[in-house]
Amino acid sequence: MARRSPAVRPGPPSDPRSAPPEPRLLPDTAEVGPRGRLTVGGVDLVDLAGELGTPLFVYDEAHLRNRCREARAAWGEGVAYATKAFLCRAMAVLAHEEGMYLDVSTGGELHVALSAGVPPEHLVLHGNNKSESELARALEVGVGRIVVDSFDELARLGRLVDGPEHARGSAGPTRHRPRVLVRVTPGVEVHTHEYVRTGQADSKFGFSMLSGAAAEAVAAAELMPGVELVGIHAHIGSQVFDVGHFEQAAEIIGRFFAPLGLAELVVGGGLGVPYVNGEVAPGQAEWAAATHDACRRAGVAPDVRVTAEPGRSIVATAGMTLYTVGTVKEIPGIRTYVSVDGGMSDNPRPVLYGSGYEAFLPREPGALRPRPVRVVGKHCESGDVVVAEARLPADFAVGDVLATPVTGAYGYSMASNYNKVPRPPVVFVATGRARVVVRGETLDDLLRLEV
Ligand code: LLP
Repeated sequence: MARRSPAVRPGPPSDPRSAPPEPRLLPDTAEVGPRGRLTVGGVDLVDLAGELGTPLFVYDEAHLRNRCREARAAWGEGVAYATKAFLCRAMAVLAHEEGMYLDVSTGGELHVALSAGVPPEHLVLHGNNKSESELARALEVGVGRIVVDSFDELARLGRLVDGPEHARGSAGPTRHRPRVLVRVTPGVEVHTHEYVRTGQADSKFGFSMLSGAAAEAVAAAELMPGVELVGIHAHIGSQVFDVGHFEQAAEIIGRFFAPLGLAELVVGGGLGVPYVNGEVAPGQAEWAAATHDACRRAGVAPDVRVTAEPGRSIVATAGMTLYTVGTVKEIPGIRTYVSVDGGMSDNPRPVLYGSGYEAFLPREPGALRPRPVRVVGKHCESGDVVVAEARLPADFAVGDVLATPVTGAYGYSMASNYNKVPRPPVVFVATGRARVVVRGETLDDLLRLEV
């Protein structure tokens, strides 16, 4: 969506770190409203924070739709949104409406996607340790694809579809042969955080191509009468900026795949997004083109469905977290701590991965940010950092609404109730309206599981 006026008008800062957050870190519809404040989807964020309270997750619905459409255009039928990045019923419905399949990696994600009304044949079930009941549920509802991750899982699946229980009709009505893909690890190391690297041989995911386990798994799946082996899957890691890594992986996987004569090759997700000023990432089209070229070079037939399952690149920049500044503590000669009303319970990524973010004040999004501060949360531990090296305008004050952009992926989905902090609401904004799609937790919600 075109911006009517740029969200941010960078002046000529003497220190480049004082520049306001770059437009590429903000949602597509972000713009400066008539009062000089940031609006997203035509909604003034300061007003929204006043109405709904903070912390608050705000998503630009147009941005979400634009990214889904780009993914669909780049990859075609079968491209799946990786729901682990952010899932609620409204998101599942939106991705489905925009023509994406949904990748679910647990029985819980499967449940949410089904309860949103997504047709089961548009679901892809993942997981390195799917339980028998998760598999049984997938068979019962008829999920479109199951990505098999281990020999144990193949055996479990075999028992469910071919076993005596099925013959007696008591293991759930398996009305069709489930379509399966075999997940392989190509032995590619990508330069991303160790915890989100998955393509290397030393991984809990998939079957190693180098050890021969991948070929063995394919042979075993082919011999199982109860399942239909349709393809190969690989995912090399997350927050990958370099299209060259995807290309390299696609060539290696493509060479393994080509002689098998299968119909589908899924290259996983992993496309990176910029989180801070100065970072640049490729788009869906570039990623898809590089992957498709590499597959052709590797001999993958042109009629093979080569597709992907992006998560972060669909939702990260669409989302933003609004907090309120509650306490400012200046420690002379050391640093200034700015405490906000959320923290590691709504965004554990800084603690888990040392991830960096920008911070700014939606009341003046284009303001220079000369003040170096550390934005911290309200949790009872020192590691509870929201933005370790933040910059703020000189006039920030207690009571200000503070925003951290690019929190749409793996923020709400990894949120917790640490210190019994209720999870914030999630709101979608579009065409001047805000709709709460997940309400905020109440104090009583904190007691709902107690018996
Ligand atoms: N497909 C598979 C099999 C995956 O394991 C993942 C992510 C994706 C697709 C989606 O990847 P994406 O496009 O979102 O990079 N919590 C971490 C990220 C963990 C990613 C896990 N798998 C973070 O906050 O950075």
